[in-house]
Amino acid sequence: MSSADLPAERLPVAGTAYGLGIGPGEPDLITLKAYKILQQADVIAYPALEDGVSLARQIVDPHIPEGRIEIAIRIEMGKTADPVYDAAAIEIGKHLADGKTVAVLCEGDPFFYGSFMYLFGRLAEAGYPVKTVPGVSSMMACAAQLGAPLAAKNDVLQVIPGPLDADRLRAQLANTDAAAIIKLGRHFAKVRDVINELGLTDRARYIERATLETQKMVPLGDLPVDAKAPYFSMILIHRRGDAWR
Ligand SMILES: C[S@@+](CC[C@H](N)C(=O)[O-])C[C@H]1O[C@@H](n2cnc3c(N)ncnc32)[C@H](O)[C@@H]1O
Repeated sequence: MSSADLPAERLPVAGTAYGLGIGPGEPDLITLKAYKILQQADVIAYPALEDGVSLARQIVDPHIPEGRIEIAIRIEMGKTADPVYDAAAIEIGKHLADGKTVAVLCEGDPFFYGSFMYLFGRLAEAGYPVKTVPGVSSMMACAAQLGAPLAAKNDVLQVIPGPLDADRLRAQLANTDAAAIIKLGRHFAKVRDVINELGLTDRARYIERATLETQKMVPLGDLPVDAKAPYFSMILIHRRGDAWR
């Protein structure tokens, strides 16, 4: 069967919500499918900070046509997000009931630790058509930017959230073949201490804001001892140093 035999899906379908993976930062790293839906969606929703700033909105800024209805889903730091997602699902549901198509922007891939899944659950459980368009995840982008393949042969690749406590981090990393440590931010110093303890520092690479103009990357051991990391940062570790060895 060739791709010409595949049924042509008209995108977007009226009354449907789409969780659009929009990639890790560089506007060109959006998929063609997500781009097409974005061009035609009636409503564009995105997660934002309390002040309205949204990385997802910034990433696709060059691609958003004028005159779209926009919904900023403002999440307050330190507060439970459930009421915010409840309200956003109700607002999006009203547009869907009117036959509008809604694109929800998701940095990276929507189902890889993405907050879109909280809306997906609410909308799907309420009976609305909701689809997910996969995106280029930050983990893939970080590996590409660092020139550090994630895993090869029979390596077990772990994704480890930085907020885990030090004991759990130590246990996860003790026998790791390969790992991506995400959500660093204020957990960076603790994560770094554990990596040092396990003698993995010379196997660890640090990157922040991958593919954005403000990207920074460096071997972990080259960072100053008091270095801080933003939330959009990651450490990749490979026990052999390089996956191809
Ligand atoms: C809640 S997760 C969302 C991941 C996203 N859905 C994806 O597929 O990349 C957020 C974490 O992803 C990582 N991340 C996302 N974008 C990044 C980027 N451009 N550079 C480095 N790390 C990034 C960071 O570790 C951040 O704390």
